[in-house]
Amino acid sequence: MSSLQAKPYLRQVSIRADAEFDQDQFPYYLPAVQAINNLQFHPDVTFFVGENGSGKSTVLEAIAIALGFSAEGGTKSVRFQTADTISPLHSVLLLAQSFKRPADGYFLRAESFFNVATYMDKMGYLDSYGGKSLHARSHGEAFMALLLTKLRGKGLYLLDEPEAALSPNRQLAALSAIHQLVQNDSQLIIATHSPILLAYPNAKIFQFSGNGIEEVKYEDTEHYALTKDFLNFYERRLQQLLDADPE
Ligand SMILES: Nc1ncnc2c1ncn2[C@@H]1O[C@H](COP(=O)(O)OP(=O)(O)O)[C@@H](O)[C@H]1O
Ligand SMILES: [Mg+2]
Repeated sequence: MSSLQAKPYLRQVSIRADAEFDQDQFPYYLPAVQAINNLQFHPDVTFFVGENGSGKSTVLEAIAIALGFSAEGGTKSVRFQTADTISPLHSVLLLAQSFKRPADGYFLRAESFFNVATYMDKMGYLDSYGGKSLHARSHGEAFMALLLTKLRGKGLYLLDEPEAALSPNRQLAALSAIHQLVQNDSQLIIATHSPILLAYPNAKIFQFSGNGIEEVKYEDTEHYALTKDFLNFYERRLQQLLDADPE
């Protein structure tokens, strides 16, 4: 065998050098979008973290579309469109991919997971979700069914805030499911606010902010530091928050 590794399936993303765009237009004015240059993904898991509005979903969606997923999410065979707010970012992205194509793929958008579930019901795809309509489950249950039965491994999976529906206990189960997928030759790119998911060790964390994109360690994320501080000192922190004079 050569030293060439199949993973990461998606190695790197940049903005094409010859791309023409207006820096004042959405999404090009976002500091994180301007910082997309040789962004190198971890072979196992790459996390996008950052404040609401920092551009995580915009970048994840553009990568997904450039890879051939529908903007609404789902597998690559899902072909329907209800979103009319897709940014043009995908058209200027340059993706560096592995010589080996992933055998499976999924793009999860928290906002449109239920639209995709409706489509899956209509198309008779229930078997691959454990044989029960996703609508007959809670959001969290539906998502766990996706993670445990639909994603088959050897795949490239893009997940936008997968924790949205999950109890802390299910987030731990999701962490274990992610590890199973990684061990089964998968690569994941996950936008998340979850301090539990972010703890996954075989990972790289990209923090999106007004300064662009920088790689950070788990313990240096605000998610870790703030959650830990709050839980350790919640009585004092609550007092500070709730007693503060509104300005
Ligand atoms: N279609 C759009 N047109 C203009 N601005 C948008 C559009 N979609 C998102 N935005 C803005 O771009 C910024 C980044 O959004 P988003 O990528 O969803 O952030 P995040 O996922 O990090 O919370 C936000 O300020 C958002 O309001
Ligand atoms: Mg988002």
